[in-house]
Amino acid sequence: MKAPQLAQRFEQLFATRPRISRAPGRVNLIGEHTDYNDGFVMPAAVEFSVYIAFGPRDDRKLLIHSEEFSGDFEFDLDHLPQQRTGTWCDYVLGVAGILRQRGHKLRGGNLLVHGEVPIGAGLSSSAAIEVASALALLNLDERPMPLPDVAKLCQQAENTFVGARVGIMDQFVSCMGKAGHAFLLDCRSLDFEFVPLPTEVDLVVCNTMVKHEVAASDYNTRRAECEEGVQYFAKWEPSIRALRDVSVELLDRHKNDLPPTIWKRCSHVVHENQRTTDAARALAGGDLGRMKELMRESHESLRDLYEVSCWELDIMVEAAHTLPGFCGGRMTGGGFGGCTVNLVRRDNASEFSARIAEHYRVATGIEPQVYRCSAENGAQIFD
Ligand code: GLA
Repeated sequence: MKAPQLAQRFEQLFATRPRISRAPGRVNLIGEHTDYNDGFVMPAAVEFSVYIAFGPRDDRKLLIHSEEFSGDFEFDLDHLPQQRTGTWCDYVLGVAGILRQRGHKLRGGNLLVHGEVPIGAGLSSSAAIEVASALALLNLDERPMPLPDVAKLCQQAENTFVGARVGIMDQFVSCMGKAGHAFLLDCRSLDFEFVPLPTEVDLVVCNTMVKHEVAASDYNTRRAECEEGVQYFAKWEPSIRALRDVSVELLDRHKNDLPPTIWKRCSHVVHENQRTTDAARALAGGDLGRMKELMRESHESLRDLYEVSCWELDIMVEAAHTLPGFCGGRMTGGGFGGCTVNLVRRDNASEFSARIAEHYRVATGIEPQVYRCSAENGAQIFD
């Protein structure tokens, strides 16, 4: 279902013509587990999006309905739940709650939510629903907000209401993505630059169809390990506030002074930051050979030092290296399952998709999904 059908369905349900907000999911080309370390990331928004058809109500109710996610929800805007409900509508409620806390009165409304970002695949379905909700709620209230601020608001909702300590990457690229471009974001200053994707390559995203249980708890453990690393480095160099500030020289100098696990985590982050800015240069200069090396190093570091890969992801990554047209690939997103991202020459992309699926199916017994994606624009509202 796309926007016109969603609008039609909304009219059938609520007998008024809606406006529609759209927010995309993302794929991260490089810069993994760096965002919450004040570092660099290079994602792109993709066409999978969450669409919300919305229209005002005359009372203070917020009605949230979806045809594919279960449950219909009704809330009083003046008495929103203070605790998460454990359902998908927490992403909407979290955003509404933060807006209320910030003094927005909000207006009653009907929301019809349609999500096409695969869930649990590491393509940021949660950021997409948060951003689409924020745009809908702000628009109902006729209070536009600059998109970078929308991104920060949505991250806050996920951190404080949903309870996931995510960084800013997903919400930011969902808001600010640009068609045909990846996006080099400095997660400290929030300065960014668009990096054109070479026209001869496609993004091929391969979904392992697994998401291991530990994903959420281990994400928070990795964050805590990075914070522990910062405490050590700050003792030696008081100006250090985040792993972003640690140089390769400083890292190497203290290799034997840190607990081995903490050193491995720090080593991943410090080198991944460097790889990400190098990758932006390589991509902008059309140097796909260098990009391929950097993506491979990134995957190996996530596997061996940050320890967030899994055997299904490793199989998918290794399989890609044997196929024609492959210009670089790695796991993407938080890890422990989800997707790999691959740059593949357009002429080879169909064959690549079929062969990698076959390889993965034979090696694991699991039927994967393979998506040929392009980089798309970020969030928008339309009538
Ligand atoms: C998840 C989080 C992001 C980021 C990645 C890892 O997608 O939502 O903020 O930390 O993991 O790079």
